[in-house]
Order: sequence, then structure tokens, then C-alpha cells
Amino acid sequence: MKFNRRKFIKRLLVAIASVEAFFIIKGGVSKVEQANAKKELFNAGKVDSFHKNKTYPFSTGHFFLRRFEDGGFLAMSVKCTHLGCVVNSNLETGGFNCPCHRSQFNRFGEVLAAPATRPLDIFPIVIKNGEILIDTNKAVKRTSFEKSQLTYA
Ligand code: FES
Repeated sequence: MKFNRRKFIKRLLVAIASVEAFFIIKGGVSKVEQANAKKELFNAGKVDSFHKNKTYPFSTGHFFLRRFEDGGFLAMSVKCTHLGCVVNSNLETGGFNCPCHRSQFNRFGEVLAAPATRPLDIFPIVIKNGEILIDTNKAVKRTSFEKSQLTYA
């Protein structure tokens, strides 16, 4: 069999183009997968498993879930709005204290003591089939607490 140089180069170029196309398509697919993964909601559990007038820390989700007296839920970020330290829940007041520069927040996440100047960010909550789902990728800034921020079953 005679070696055909022109044919060989043509096939080599097609092979290289195919490999490049594969990686371009694969890269695009993985970006879509990453975007979909980020959109996943954090499942905090069943509505009935949360008592009223109590705050539940979710360290893996980076939020506190509070259920208020009327049954409404609020998911508040653990990040202090001053410089981003992780706040601790204050069992006595139901609020939150920042260990870094001593900002204090009430149980609604509103500022009680500076240097923080705005309330803790909140995350949107969806209640579906009795499960509490929280969008931890979507921190919402606010200037004060409003009842409309609560989510009900
Ligand atoms: S980071 Fe919380 S008070 Fe400064």
C-alpha cells in the first residue's frame, strides 16, 4: 500500500478539529451544569419540624432559619453586614451578635448596635410539598424588616 501524504494530512486536520470541537462542546455543557447546580435550592426540612418563636442555624447553608410566632419563616444570612464576619445567635434575645466588632441584630436581623448599618441579608424561601426550600445563591439586601419578607406554609 502506497503512503498518500496529502490524504494523511487531511485526516490529521479533521481529527484535530474533532478533538477541539469535543472540548468546546464539553466546556459549554459543564458551564450549563454548573449554572444549574448553583440554582439548586437548599432543603431545610419539613415545615412541621420547626417550632414557632425559634431560630435554627444551618451552617452548611450559611443562614439562620427563624420561625416567628405567627408561623412565618425568615432565612437570614450568617454574614454580618459590616465586614462579613459570621454572626452568632443570641439565645437570650433571639437576635444575633457579631464577634468581630460587636454589631448586634434583633430577631428580625435589624441592627441594634453599630458598626453594622443595615439588617442581615435574607434568602428567598419557597415551601413546596411541606418542605422548606431556600435559595442560598440569592442574598437579598434590605433596609428594615417588613412582614412581607416572611414566608408561610
Ligand atoms: S464584621 Fe460584624 S461588626 Fe464588623
